[in-house]
Amino acid sequence: MAKAKTVFFCKECGFESAKWLGQCPGCRAWNSFTEEPMAQTKAKYSHGVGVGVAKLQPLQEVSSDREERTLIGIREFDRVLGGGIVKGSLVLVGGDPGIGKSTLLLQMCREISTKHKVLYISGEESAQQIKMRADRLGEFSGEVLLLAETNLDLIAAALEKEQPEVVVIDSIQTMYREEVGAAPGSVSQVREATASLMRLAKEKGISIFIVGHVTKEGTVAGPRMLEHMVDTVLYFEGDASASYRILRAVKNRFGSTNEIGVFEMSGSGLLEVANPSEYMLEGRPEEEPGSVITTVMEGTRPILVEVQALVCQTNFNMPRRTAAGVDYNRVNLLMAVMEKRLGISLAGCDAYVNVAGGMKISEPGIDLAIVLALLSSYKNKAVDNKTIAFGEIGLTGEVRNVSMLMQRVREAEKLGYETCIVPKLHSARKTDEKPLKIKLVEVGNIRELASLI
Ligand code: TYD
Ligand code: MG
Repeated sequence: MAKAKTVFFCKECGFESAKWLGQCPGCRAWNSFTEEPMAQTKAKYSHGVGVGVAKLQPLQEVSSDREERTLIGIREFDRVLGGGIVKGSLVLVGGDPGIGKSTLLLQMCREISTKHKVLYISGEESAQQIKMRADRLGEFSGEVLLLAETNLDLIAAALEKEQPEVVVIDSIQTMYREEVGAAPGSVSQVREATASLMRLAKEKGISIFIVGHVTKEGTVAGPRMLEHMVDTVLYFEGDASASYRILRAVKNRFGSTNEIGVFEMSGSGLLEVANPSEYMLEGRPEEEPGSVITTVMEGTRPILVEVQALVCQTNFNMPRRTAAGVDYNRVNLLMAVMEKRLGISLAGCDAYVNVAGGMKISEPGIDLAIVLALLSSYKNKAVDNKTIAFGEIGLTGEVRNVSMLMQRVREAEKLGYETCIVPKLHSARKTDEKPLKIKLVEVGNIRELASLI
């Protein structure tokens, strides 16, 4: 019997090769090739939106009407998409197992089914299982069509017949095309499945949401190329221990990225969190050393979070340092700056830094709050309850400016804070239309900051 023919694919970029290679010539990734059976008949495969014969068109003549959008009715979701679902767009929703992707998309179906025709296709759950989930979510006033199927050719036929406006595919890793010999979830299947869904979306103007599982590294399983092919990539994230979830756009051809939507998982599905700051600060200790409130920007939204620090005498030869929600190396760096610029010795102290509520923050604007929290715990003096602080700290101890300063200040003011410790302001920055009720305390370096506490 003839040996089954196989080909090798790069997991990163989908590069195809007849033999195994240590390094991908396409994207230079190491050890990224996997072996898969060769497609019996080479599947027709178009990467982009071009369908049929090439047709040239002058740019000036292309109609520039704004894309047609449908509002879902879940405000947090609409915002992340850039103002509703764009007709004919392909949206990838990634996230850890059990984070609530299926729940979110079923809730979306419930909302839009009142006005539009929706089809929910699941390759992971049976119709009964979906029904059980739907029962937890409450009443469905519109009609949501269900299909438990994994064969994409049958799915394409169903779409042809039903002509829905919005379709959910849960998940791309379970879908397959018979023409491609490989197992569902393999590089070539995921690539083919996405390409054919892309064609369906663009040809028929159907908006398709696909669920993608994420790998250990936190990217969507399958080729990285998947993210390049789709119009929008959303990640649904959250902490296993916390009930809130964040929906984040990491790529959006029809809107800005880095917008977030905040949800809370409840007994009856996901609830919108309209004011994340209040939610993050719930249960905050009052007048306790080591607790500082800061504002971080999530896209265009300022969110108030609490940074906590605990500095205490060490019982070990090597002091212990941990950081949760902020970069560990950043905390070490800031402690080194404190030692050098403030002349305090932290070598004999354990230090723990934590962002309450389980948020993960990567922006440098949180530096000032970390240092203030460490100082507050070190000196055992509480920072005033109605004070917030933000700013970046450089290696010489200087406090540097952050983006969208006034939005952050306004958010703090809105929530009733009275004092705001900020970097030294340029006069241009101060000319903001409305007068501020909140008091601004400008600090130029960390010595000035230390003198405040
Ligand atoms: P699910 O949407 O199945 O996650 P994914 O599709 O991302 O794997 O999430 C289900 C989790 O959410 C599950 O652990 C149960 C929980 N859950 C609730 O807490 N309340 C609910 O109303 C629903 C539907 C699920
Ligand atoms: Mg699921």
